Amino acid sequence: RAPEPATMVIFGATGDLATRKLLPAIFGLWQDGLLGSAFNIVGVGRQEMTDEQFKDFAIKALQTSKETDDIKPGSLEKFRDLLYYEGGDFAGDDIYQQVQTELDRAEEAHGGRKNALFYLSVPPSLFETISNGLGRLGLNRQDEGWRRMVIEKPFGRTLQSARELNDAIHRVWDESQVYRIDHYLGKETVQNLMAIRFGNVIFEPLWNRSYVSHVQITAAEDLGLEGRAGYYEEAGVVRDMLQNHLMQLFALTAMEAPAAFDADAIRDEKVKVLRAVKAIPKSRVKEVAVRGQYAAGTMDGKNVPGYREEPGVKGGSTTPTYVAVKLEIDNWRWQGVPFYLRTGKRLPKKVTEIAVVFKRPPLGIFPGGLERNVLAFRIQPDEGVSLKFSSKTPGQEMVLREVVMDFRYDAFGAQLESPYSRLLLDAMLGDATLFPREDEVDHAWQIVSGILEAWDGKAASEFPNYVAGTWGPDAADELIAPYRWRRL
Ligand code: BG6
Repeated sequence: RAPEPATMVIFGATGDLATRKLLPAIFGLWQDGLLGSAFNIVGVGRQEMTDEQFKDFAIKALQTSKETDDIKPGSLEKFRDLLYYEGGDFAGDDIYQQVQTELDRAEEAHGGRKNALFYLSVPPSLFETISNGLGRLGLNRQDEGWRRMVIEKPFGRTLQSARELNDAIHRVWDESQVYRIDHYLGKETVQNLMAIRFGNVIFEPLWNRSYVSHVQITAAEDLGLEGRAGYYEEAGVVRDMLQNHLMQLFALTAMEAPAAFDADAIRDEKVKVLRAVKAIPKSRVKEVAVRGQYAAGTMDGKNVPGYREEPGVKGGSTTPTYVAVKLEIDNWRWQGVPFYLRTGKRLPKKVTEIAVVFKRPPLGIFPGGLERNVLAFRIQPDEGVSLKFSSKTPGQEMVLREVVMDFRYDAFGAQLESPYSRLLLDAMLGDATLFPREDEVDHAWQIVSGILEAWDGKAASEFPNYVAGTWGPDAADELIAPYRWRRL
């Protein structure tokens, strides 16, 4: 299925995200013939630029991007023809008028339709301004073609501001026109979690409090700030990773089976389980959450600075770069089964994993201890699924040892597509299955908001409390006791 002819309008087209991720993803889709018969891009920015300058800029970005692969001969030249640019002030009307003119211009080539996907690749402080501007000029109206708006996280800074943002957006757009991107949902292996849970019969019967001891979700990053101090100092790890990516992984792991694989059935189930998470009021945060900030250390034999020494970070910054949290779910399936989530920067390696850790067998009839079975979904890298269980070792004695059954995604022999390609194509096709709905985002904020209240701006005398290149603060080990974090 190919999308109808459409114009993609990228606000913030010369920014970091647009050049690093969006343009390569769009180019890849277009080159593979997935964007339909007629398609063009209008870059929009505050900077004045001619079409020619923008074309040069975009082509250079594609040539130098690590994400662009296999440029076919002549492809870039043809892609160049699809690019246009409009510059101006986002607060005024002119810029939206210019966008309207671009849509009019494409109408004929687009078979008389004026379909448009507005991608807001701008700082969140501009979401409302642009959404209102598009609304003022009637660009939200769907009488001449479909109109959709894609927004990037963070959707709000607190529960309160997220709600205000949603209200503002809904004054202009119907929820069905709004696509909130969480790029983790575009990862093949995240989608595979649903495939494995609901496309097989052997896992689901065990997926509950009778058999599962606890669940560990880890999103570890070896990178530090990567020059993003301005954004990160405001956000911190809770807003950057926990409220969105980790909550999505959590919801997909814990939700009930949807009745159909469609946007609302899936999102209804995610919302249901997010609603069932036991509230974490400010007063309970100490018991269930641990924060950390990295100090200088060595990684791969190289010295790396501590968070507070990163360029652009305030000397005594209390911004957390690590969080571990224990979530409990008040429903029949999961009563009494803790879900431990952790994520942080400057941990020893990049690895994202969801591990379902099972209970021990009820009786030990063999010598030695009883081990727990573990079903682990490796989201990245080395994408795959592994099942750990005990087996007899060869020999006279009945000695058991843990072995691993391993499925590796590369067995398919296909390269995994970038999450942005998948999500952009879905948005063009009008499929919102992999986009968090308003109520999901709201519930995810509700879960983390006590944590933010307890931590925001509060002196963190323990900071920095982990050394770059280690697995986070010691308190995280206490949080998960009597269990242990998996060694990854
Ligand atoms: C982004 C965060 O949303 O996700 C970054 O803003 C983080 O801080 C990134 O590094 C991680 O994404 P991925 O796909 O590399 O795991």
